[in-house]
Amino acid sequence: MTLKAPLYITTPIYYVNDIPHIGHAYTSIASDMIARFGRLQGREVFYLTGTDEHGQKVEAAAQKNAMDPQAWVDAGAKKFEELATFLDLTHGDFIRTTEPRHKEAAQHLWNTLLEKGHIYLGSYAGWYSVRDEAFYDESEIKDGLAPTGAPVEWVEEPSYFFRLSAFQEPLLKFYQDNPDFIAPQSRKNEVIKFVEGGLRDLSVSRSTFTWGIHVPGDTSHVMYVWMDALTNYITALGYPNENDSKFQKFWPESLHIIGKDILRFHAVYWPAFLMGAGVMPPKKLFAHGWWTNEGQKMSKSLGNALSPIDLVNTYGLDQVKYFVLREMPFGQDGDFSKSACIQRINSDLANDFGNLVQRVLSFVFKNAGAQVPEPGAQEAIDQELLNTIQGCFKEMESQMDVLALHRACEALNAGVSAANRYIETVQPWGLRKTDVPRMNTVLYTLMEVIRVLGTMALCITPRAAAKILDYLAIPEDKRTFEDLTTFKLIPGTALPEPTGVFPRITLE
Ligand code: MSP
Repeated sequence: MTLKAPLYITTPIYYVNDIPHIGHAYTSIASDMIARFGRLQGREVFYLTGTDEHGQKVEAAAQKNAMDPQAWVDAGAKKFEELATFLDLTHGDFIRTTEPRHKEAAQHLWNTLLEKGHIYLGSYAGWYSVRDEAFYDESEIKDGLAPTGAPVEWVEEPSYFFRLSAFQEPLLKFYQDNPDFIAPQSRKNEVIKFVEGGLRDLSVSRSTFTWGIHVPGDTSHVMYVWMDALTNYITALGYPNENDSKFQKFWPESLHIIGKDILRFHAVYWPAFLMGAGVMPPKKLFAHGWWTNEGQKMSKSLGNALSPIDLVNTYGLDQVKYFVLREMPFGQDGDFSKSACIQRINSDLANDFGNLVQRVLSFVFKNAGAQVPEPGAQEAIDQELLNTIQGCFKEMESQMDVLALHRACEALNAGVSAANRYIETVQPWGLRKTDVPRMNTVLYTLMEVIRVLGTMALCITPRAAAKILDYLAIPEDKRTFEDLTTFKLIPGTALPEPTGVFPRITLE
């Protein structure tokens, strides 16, 4: 077996103030699909998620709720940890920025930047948005609001600065030397344009509140929350100990999945901090789009944020995962509408995939002795189907290579459709009376096809896919992509009774 590169995949760390909504769940579900896919390919995958717990916004929320900030963030982090479990994410760590390991890493990064002359003390006078935890230039403010629509306030305070201006050329060179660093392409262009427009030094400390990581050697300042938060990605690999095997193994293969709103922080500030500290920037960033709810922007004031918990309770976990992964072209915006969701679940999952599995396996269970049938020689049409399915699998691999998650789902669907068309053509149920050996060959072929499709689906609808493989009595250790070629169903293997995997949704 050829050695495959490990993969380090991260979600943004979520603000503890928020109640988890579909936007958060989406970033996590998409990252989880990539993580699961990597493992199916035989890669060692480390998937990180967690919570962003410092800053003015968090301090203010704790005060408003008359809570100690630590108690406030403990409660907030718990919601996101529970969500990760509820969504059955395969993360290997859940990082919280209030943990001692993170404080140590963030302070070490600060000290390194200071020693190397990239941080100096000055004073900040300008616009700040607490909601975005971001500084804005005068030129960016329109009608008294940030470009994101967030309110801004005028801030004047002593502040440490990071010499971001000195990184304009190194960053542009880095983007040029690493053309795949930022995806999709449109986002990359946006970043390059921003950097070409000139960079000002960045305020990296605040001195008018205290809920944050103290600036080493100056307790009157806390680190700017984005500098603190971005560091989480290396804290989890054991930074400041870069000789740690985890760091060595995973950092060169790092992939940050983020939403388009936080691109600047990840594509400009983060690599600049790392370059300044002498650490290699991450390998890749992918910025996905935003969900609307029935065509409307989700917001607190409209009270229309979609709860992933409610959605899962209504439609099912795999169904929600499938819908968000299939519906939104990864990298573009998408709309969550009830009708589109029900339509996709019923048509792609219940009618097409679920029905394929259920018709074939319940027929085998009832009419072929509840065991893997003994096939005869396969005919051209059988071989053709197997080749088509193999092609769908290859298509999924190449789409995942470019992180076109929705297209990878389509590749699975194409395989399902091909199998359903084959059933229409060869009419296996009729063969029971006329040609049992041929029937067995057809059923065996279909079961092999379902095995491939079930294995592919392990990264999209993991629970249902595992159930399908259980119905085929595939051993737990024979469920990787390599097994698709090295393993085959063994005739005579006893099979359990299948009970259906994707029920139809019948909501009004
Ligand atoms: N704490 C920062 C990230 C720090 S990473 C070092 C943050 N947190 S967040 O909770 O506000 O957002 C987390 C993610 O959720 C972001 O990637 C954001 O794009 C995503 N989404 C928030 N609303 C969204 C939608 N409506 N649709 C899709 N994703 C959205 O930013």
